[in-house]
Amino acid sequence: RHQWRGVIEEYRDRLDLPAGTPTITLREGGTPLVDSPWLSRLTGGDVWLKVEGDNPTGSFKDRGMTVALSVAVGEGAEAVVCASTGNTSASMAAYAARAGIKPLVLVPQGKIAAGKLAQAIVHGAQVVMVRGNFDDCLRISRELAERYPVALVNSVNPMRLEGQKTAAFEIVDFLGDAPDVHVLPVGNAGNVSAYWKGYVESRHVGQTTRCPRMLGWQAAGAAPLVGGEPVRDPETVASAIRIGNPASWHLAVAAQRESGGSFRAVTDREILDAQRALAAHEGVFVEPASAAGVAGLLQEVAAGTTYAGQQVVVTVTGHGLKDIDTALSTFTELVDTVVDPDVEAAAEAAGLR
Ligand code: F0G
Repeated sequence: RHQWRGVIEEYRDRLDLPAGTPTITLREGGTPLVDSPWLSRLTGGDVWLKVEGDNPTGSFKDRGMTVALSVAVGEGAEAVVCASTGNTSASMAAYAARAGIKPLVLVPQGKIAAGKLAQAIVHGAQVVMVRGNFDDCLRISRELAERYPVALVNSVNPMRLEGQKTAAFEIVDFLGDAPDVHVLPVGNAGNVSAYWKGYVESRHVGQTTRCPRMLGWQAAGAAPLVGGEPVRDPETVASAIRIGNPASWHLAVAAQRESGGSFRAVTDREILDAQRALAAHEGVFVEPASAAGVAGLLQEVAAGTTYAGQQVVVTVTGHGLKDIDTALSTFTELVDTVVDPDVEAAAEAAGLR
């Protein structure tokens, strides 16, 4: 018996890394592919959830960060910087701590979930709050990395996608082939691009017979890939994907075209309903952005789409505990019931008889 070694050691021969790259890992990846009887019943398909909230810092970002930090350290970096809606900064801070180098994060002020901010702070990141949105933060981070001795680890760094593609490898390893359809939320568009890279590479080495259709879902108020042009003031309750000008735009559009897929939008209401339904039906609690793919499937079901005879994988990207403020504030009808310390009172309050 041995434990999962993390995505670099598990897939080293399939990662394009500079020779001599050290391994900075928290044993990320190896996340569960959980069957979804509820979504299978609704869609008529065979639906699986790739539960990325089970990564060390609670999101899929760890897959890319182990690689980006390892390469940065191999190249002698002493500090790393990223722009983030929260998860990238939490992940980068953890891996920088592990590597013993300095993390600097730029986040949109007031627009990242408290859990993510706490992670960055606890791991020792210098947090700079920007009066602006994610797109502003990314522009500034790029320029900081050009002008100062600090390495940029946003997904414009190709090593991030190199690591994130391993999620597709794991799915193929488990299912024995690629699924027919892959559904996921899209913000900065790195993940959809990385999955596509992983699937295409799997087919090239003969591990799969097909590539899935890539169905990317954006929040309606932050849906540049749906509208076909950048959104100046993106707005959505799903703060992780509150992005108006995705960095991996061209890669993502290529993935959509080559796979015969699509980019579509779900409303905040649909996102929150999907988050709640997923937690209630399947026991999987994800953050709002992570529910966008599930929301998309539900929207399709309502419109009459079925997936009979098809295998569908839905990536749920981050853990629900990242953003409990949104969860608690939107589910107000479930109020606590306060009683005296007494069995009868508790039974009565609970509606038992
Ligand atoms: N889901 C979650 C939970 C995310 O944190 C992100 C992106 C996405 C989906 C979208 O993935 O950007 O590759 O299309 N979060 C980034 C961050 C932007 O800074 O944490 P994408």
